[in-house]
Amino acid sequence: MQYNHWSVHTDEENICWLLFDHKKASTNILSTEALTELNDILDHITDNCKAIIFKSLKKNGFIAGANIKEFVGRDYDAALALIKLGHEVMNKIAAMKCNTISLIHGFSMGGGTELALACKYIICSDDASTKLALPEVKLGIHPGFGGSYRCIKRIGPLAAFDMMLTGRAINTRTAKKTGLVDEVTAHRQLERAAIAYASKKYVQPKPSLLNQLLNNALIRGFIASRIRKKVAHKAPKKHYPAPYKLISLWQQYYDSPQKMLTMEAQSVAELVADKTAQNLVRVYFLQEQLKSAADKKLFKPSHVHVIGGGIMGGDIAAWCALKGFQVSVQDQDPAILAKTIQRAYGLFKKRLKSERLTRNAMDRLTADHKGYGVEHADIIIEAIFENSDIKKELYQRIEPRMKKDAILVTNTSSIPLETLSTCLKKPGRLVGLHFFNPVALMPLVEIVHGEQSDKKTLAKVSAFALHIDKLPLAVKSSPGFLVNRILMPYLLEAVVMYAEGIPAEAIDKAALDFGMPMGPIELADTVGLDVCLSVAQNLSQRYATAVPAQLEHMVKTGHLGKKNGKGFYPYKNGKPQKDKTASYKSCENLQQRLILMLLNEATACLRDQVVENAELLDAGVIFGTGFAPFRGGPIQYIHDTGKQELQHSMDNLQTVFGERFTQDNGWNLV
Ligand code: NAI
Repeated sequence: MQYNHWSVHTDEENICWLLFDHKKASTNILSTEALTELNDILDHITDNCKAIIFKSLKKNGFIAGANIKEFVGRDYDAALALIKLGHEVMNKIAAMKCNTISLIHGFSMGGGTELALACKYIICSDDASTKLALPEVKLGIHPGFGGSYRCIKRIGPLAAFDMMLTGRAINTRTAKKTGLVDEVTAHRQLERAAIAYASKKYVQPKPSLLNQLLNNALIRGFIASRIRKKVAHKAPKKHYPAPYKLISLWQQYYDSPQKMLTMEAQSVAELVADKTAQNLVRVYFLQEQLKSAADKKLFKPSHVHVIGGGIMGGDIAAWCALKGFQVSVQDQDPAILAKTIQRAYGLFKKRLKSERLTRNAMDRLTADHKGYGVEHADIIIEAIFENSDIKKELYQRIEPRMKKDAILVTNTSSIPLETLSTCLKKPGRLVGLHFFNPVALMPLVEIVHGEQSDKKTLAKVSAFALHIDKLPLAVKSSPGFLVNRILMPYLLEAVVMYAEGIPAEAIDKAALDFGMPMGPIELADTVGLDVCLSVAQNLSQRYATAVPAQLEHMVKTGHLGKKNGKGFYPYKNGKPQKDKTASYKSCENLQQRLILMLLNEATACLRDQVVENAELLDAGVIFGTGFAPFRGGPIQYIHDTGKQELQHSMDNLQTVFGERFTQDNGWNLV
């Protein structure tokens, strides 16, 4: 039989090789077509052979999972049909009498890992690129091809839930330690190892005593409630149902595997049809869209020079070194540089978890008080004080020393590029590369184009963003660009509420209840109240933004936020000291006030064409602010909730609170 995506051959040792090479795709995915073919293959091969070995013919990995595109917009029945096909295939593999083996080199994600779990043995290469994951929760679902049962059975509930509830990819060392894989070997030895396993007499592995105990029906309820509590800190049930459904499946049905598999399929079909998963899948595609807008091949600097070793510059320099670049970091104050290097060491240690790798990263980062790196750098990242005169003075001094083709980027939060570039001989070389705080956690960077910016330079800066694992979003040079412009009215509304006497804790709770990762008051403290004030003042020169007197007063009296331990909250060891007893009569109106301010400004940005379209706007706000991802972004939220209903609420708020709740004309574009 000829197949499009699979080839089958039985060798002289009576081993049947199932080779996967998905046509017209750079990675193997378990599309309906590929699954249907595999289903047919499994019907036609007999298990009289010595073993069946699954192997990918793609260089980059084993299988990337199911075809996410096929889940978009599916209702319950359509989703269930797709999942049942996956179940049928995996059940057939699991029922084979002969040995079944998955050979993994590179990534194995979602449905790919579930296929491997249906096999008797999993063997993987020791290559650094080899990683196994069940990342479905990130898309608002959970493993749906039998993986939830088989993963727990294979490695026990604790390790399995750690994998399935975080979606984290695990390396081969952890995979071997947990028992997920049977053998880790050099890539070139992979097939030989598989052939050795083909003749092994299979003995069903006995779960450890601990796992027998944890899976015991009498204990499961207790463990399940502990896991639920832990999950609730990160993903509240009303916003993210998938983890809770997964835990319940295990708690209720683990003793009856068939039932657990049937219920797994139904559970995932329900989740697929739900808004949360639909929006999270949308967010996934938005992320892919941002990545595909840039081309890594266009530019890869050999040397990065960062000027300003403060909050942002210091962290940007450390991040670039972490990502493998040779970096020099310059600051006028050597004492700041000492702190920068110390902070970088902390980051490397935490992220790299290896002394050798940490030392290598430290070797890539040089403190450069005098700024010798300017002459060698292919890209210079400026992150000094937010003051146009100081920045321009610096540019004038460094431009004559820069390499002919070197790019200059600024991390300015609000100064138009047109203002900054006037002092340059080559104004086209200046582009905005706007990072967010904290640099290591925020995935977005805004690539700011001024009227003077050179197109090729912009493309190169976007390529650089991909090299350092950030998502580049092209935005117009206008005050606040996209993210700060949308965020600021929301933050300032929170300050106004605070000035009205509403407790900071109640304001933050209203935003957290909506699904924001951090409340606006705590966020303002984290960014720095002086930074907030300066951004607000910049915005007020161009837009109807009113700077609250409360904010000015706090900065004047030395309340700068988390950085000096005094903000809206007092801080102890970097943690806000919240009053747990603080309460407020009604949070509903608070949430409306905050979110409508944000939505209104989002429509204004659409009208001003700060980004190309509504999808990119949603992407920017999600990845730049952490805006509740399960809501799919501000514009998607307007569609889901109903534009008219929200406009009506705006009118009501305008009656009570006045001008600042006037609807922007941008609502007409949504
Ligand atoms: P910061 O005050 O922490 O650091 C600025 C550093 O620049 C200081 O260490 C200072 O000594 C150094 N510096 C000033 N003039 C210099 C010069 N001529 N040569 C060498 N070093 C010089 O400021 P922060 O917060 O890091 O901000 C830097 C830039 O990043 C600003 O443009 C700001 O608007 C922007 N930004 C800040 C964000 C934040 O959350 N703090 C977020 C995104 C952008």
